[in-house]
Amino acid sequence: MTAHQLFQPFRLKSLQLKNRIVMAPMTRSFSPGGVPTPAVADYYVRHAKGEVGLIISEGTVVNRPAASNDPDVPQFFGEKPLLGWRGVIDKVLAVGGVMAPQLWHMGVVSPKGSGWLPPVPFEGPSGLVAPGKIGGVAMTQDDIAATIVAFAQAAVAAKALGFQAVEIHGAHGYLIDQFFWHPTNQRTDVYGGQSLAERSRFAVELIRAVRHAVGPDFPISLRISQMKLQDFTAKLATTPQEMEQWLVPLADAGVDIFHCSQRRFWEGEFADSDLNFAGWAKKLTGKTTITVGSVGLTGDFLAAFNGESSTPHSLDELLRRFDRGDFDLVAVGRPLLADAEWARKIREGRSGELIGFTKEALATLS
Ligand SMILES: Cc1cc2nc3c(=O)[nH]c(=O)nc-3n(C[C@H](O)[C@H](O)[C@H](O)COP(=O)(O)O)c2cc1C
Repeated sequence: MTAHQLFQPFRLKSLQLKNRIVMAPMTRSFSPGGVPTPAVADYYVRHAKGEVGLIISEGTVVNRPAASNDPDVPQFFGEKPLLGWRGVIDKVLAVGGVMAPQLWHMGVVSPKGSGWLPPVPFEGPSGLVAPGKIGGVAMTQDDIAATIVAFAQAAVAAKALGFQAVEIHGAHGYLIDQFFWHPTNQRTDVYGGQSLAERSRFAVELIRAVRHAVGPDFPISLRISQMKLQDFTAKLATTPQEMEQWLVPLADAGVDIFHCSQRRFWEGEFADSDLNFAGWAKKLTGKTTITVGSVGLTGDFLAAFNGESSTPHSLDELLRRFDRGDFDLVAVGRPLLADAEWARKIREGRSGELIGFTKEALATLS
């Protein structure tokens, strides 16, 4: 197996990558009190040394009192957490790595098993954690405005610390996606509506604010998904036209990269075409796209949350789509959790040394 095409450099605005392999954002919950430790820095350094082109951090929460349900998820605000992140990026830059934080607000979520709760109720567009299920409060327009400011401030902090891009987490049924999704967005003001385009207003305003804050040359990635943790089969856009009405305003607001999260990258998004989500996003917006979802593995990540293992799988189908120009970058999650050397092994064609994924990889930062 050779995958030489994934090892071509990539340039976008101020971002320069040595290859097309992206480390997918993966929550690790190893940052006590929201502060990334030196062990977190060393974890990302191992991936930079392992030749990942762009590291996207685990989701790291913005400055809202109920942005998180886990005290060990890192924060991206406040003196100590930002000092922790400085420790991360300084070390990653020192070994030639390129990194973007994934900025996150969880929205209305269920409490963790530990029972830990933030000081105020979870907040979201309508207080709904899932269709018909209240789990928090509906945000006021002031809450929405303050949340947009919190994302913009975090992006400014990322740029000031030396990160080379930011990613906004708009996927998987968390806050931004709760606005996109009609079952969790029942608002009757300007942030709600029958159409996906209307429900995208919060995200459009947020991206516009982040763009304004970081300037024109700093790349902004937006992670999006059709599926939700609340409903794996959900579809926000059921036709290419709906997808266009969703994504083009976001691109116009300032998104440079659409990071299109799927469980399995080979699944076509709409009938009568094998184009996947990243393929459609690129076709409809002309923007850079990242594909993701079971690259190099037999099983998908939601199965992994239930403890299922996956074994290494051929990259041939991925390369066929890459060669066709469907997407620019390829994000890899679990293979990199299991093995920080994954990208180097792929470049060197050492497929016999790939090790697959087992749930033990989740237990430590190694
Ligand atoms: C342990 C774990 C934590 C994750 N945390 C995040 C996260 O914080 N933000 C996010 O957007 N996706 C998260 N994901 C999803 C991954 O970024 C990725 O999309 C998914 O694992 C599919 O890629 P894979 O099949 O290569 O693992 C997580 C996945 C795993 C396995």
